[in-house]
Amino acid sequence: MASYDVIIIGAGPGGYVAAIRCAQLGLKTACVEGRETLGGTCLNVGCIPSKALLHATHMLHEAEHNFTKMGLKGKSPSVDWKQMISYKEDVIGQNTKGIEFLFKKNKIDWLKGWGSIPEAGKVKVGDEVHETKNIIIATGSESSSLPGVEIDEKVVVTSTGALELGKVPKKMVVIGAGVIGLEMGSVYARLGTEVTVVEFLDAITPGMDAEVQKTLQRMLKKQGLTFIMGAAVQKTEATKTKAKVHYKLRKDDSEHVLDADVVLVATGRKPYTDGLGLDALGIDLSKRGQIPVDKHWQTSTKGIYAIGDAIDGPMLAHKAEDEGMACAEVLAGNHGHVNYGVIPGVIYTHPEVASVGKTEADLKDEGVAYKVGKFSFMGNARAKAVFAGEGFVKLLADKETDRILGCHIIGPAAGDLIHEVCVAMEFGASAEDLALTCHAHPTYSEAVREAALACGDGPIHA
Ligand code: FAD
Ligand code: NAI
Repeated sequence: MASYDVIIIGAGPGGYVAAIRCAQLGLKTACVEGRETLGGTCLNVGCIPSKALLHATHMLHEAEHNFTKMGLKGKSPSVDWKQMISYKEDVIGQNTKGIEFLFKKNKIDWLKGWGSIPEAGKVKVGDEVHETKNIIIATGSESSSLPGVEIDEKVVVTSTGALELGKVPKKMVVIGAGVIGLEMGSVYARLGTEVTVVEFLDAITPGMDAEVQKTLQRMLKKQGLTFIMGAAVQKTEATKTKAKVHYKLRKDDSEHVLDADVVLVATGRKPYTDGLGLDALGIDLSKRGQIPVDKHWQTSTKGIYAIGDAIDGPMLAHKAEDEGMACAEVLAGNHGHVNYGVIPGVIYTHPEVASVGKTEADLKDEGVAYKVGKFSFMGNARAKAVFAGEGFVKLLADKETDRILGCHIIGPAAGDLIHEVCVAMEFGASAEDLALTCHAHPTYSEAVREAALACGDGPIHA
């Protein structure tokens, strides 16, 4: 039995980052992980494999739709699905092994197995009980199921099954037009699958800027995805190779059925805290199954902390990582801080969607007077050159002070562009500050500057 300064349970982006920072700060650190590999949901069955498949299928889309326009002629590529899956596995392996290397480099003990907390100051893994001054719970989340829908991970799948289907299905029904539904729906639509997305609400990607929602839905429709909106899924019926999805339209209660080879259930995720023994410790979960914490990520039990998907807030890898670093600082006696007002969100469809800060709907609700600076990628030379002129940057700034309050982008490299706005917001910058910053030409980021100019005297190229 070893004794530690900190034991972290879970080696996802929250847990492994916390472990590395704790070790860097001189704490004797161990991390418990039950999976065969480190990296959690994100590296094994989430962010990384989905982006690998998005990249591969985007290349296919470019070859099929844009190559000949640029004078690139020849045999168009065909899909070797087994090879595409093996490329994805290779990407996962490189990343998970990278974390193993970082653990060794930072002298972090990986305690292999599923951990529980018999009492504060103790973590049990298998038959061994380890002593520790502090514990960080970073056990993440799992897909939530739907009443009447039984997941078999073959025909009725979560994102995990959708990342390793045996073959490309002819027909796929996606339940939920959120991030997973649209990213994985895009992957299969580009591979030739007939994809129908069934969404309960009247708009896709709840919480996003309304104009972005409409633009994204229109663009995805053009890419072949079909949307059935305002539809409540009642149940699925599956055989070994096919499924039926029963849904009711909310507007008239009419009942409908869709046939599919594969049904992807993408209706959200819920915290995973099974087997930790939180009940016995007196740590009560919230109604949504999250572990309540104070502003230093400490639970109601002294010395037990929690971060990432297992607590409140957006279920995003970078949010978990930020909490991991900040919580480590707290444990080392330093100041740990996460600015929850500046956490970007990105959807890796084509085009990408990115947002940070407030939406117009938020500002209206809060009664904040704001101005909108909007710039279309049609006015951006670089975007037009690569057939990516559709989409826009929308910057929101305080009407009085000009301080940037939010930004919503749909267009090329949106997921990277958003960060100059994040930095600006961290520094309390005004739209004019961005507008006065020289941006290299020709880059997509000029569109962000033009949106900032649009908050003042007006953009140049519109
Ligand atoms: P997790 O990554 O879930 O890791 C928790 C780990 O704890 C797991 O490995 C689990 O095995 C382990 N564990 C749990 N209980 C125990 C126990 N008792 N003992 C030992 N180990 C335990 N986010 C983004 O920001 N960008 C994206 O592009 C993105 N894409 C995604 C795509 C998909 C398909 C999915 C499903 C998610 C995606 N996410 C994305 C969300 C992201 O994966 C999560 O927000 C992130 O992984 C949360 O990190 P975490 O450390 O809190 O938990
Ligand atoms: P989500 O919360 O993004 O979307 C779920 C969707 O399902 C919503 O639009 C909701 O209205 C709909 N829905 C719920 N019940 C329904 C029903 N009965 N019938 C029809 N529609 C229904 O959840 P999703 O896509 O499962 O993703 C889970 C989490 O993973 C998200 O919180 C997200 O943050 C994270 N993630 C992040 C990614 C990224 O950052 N690019 C990529 C993938 C996942």
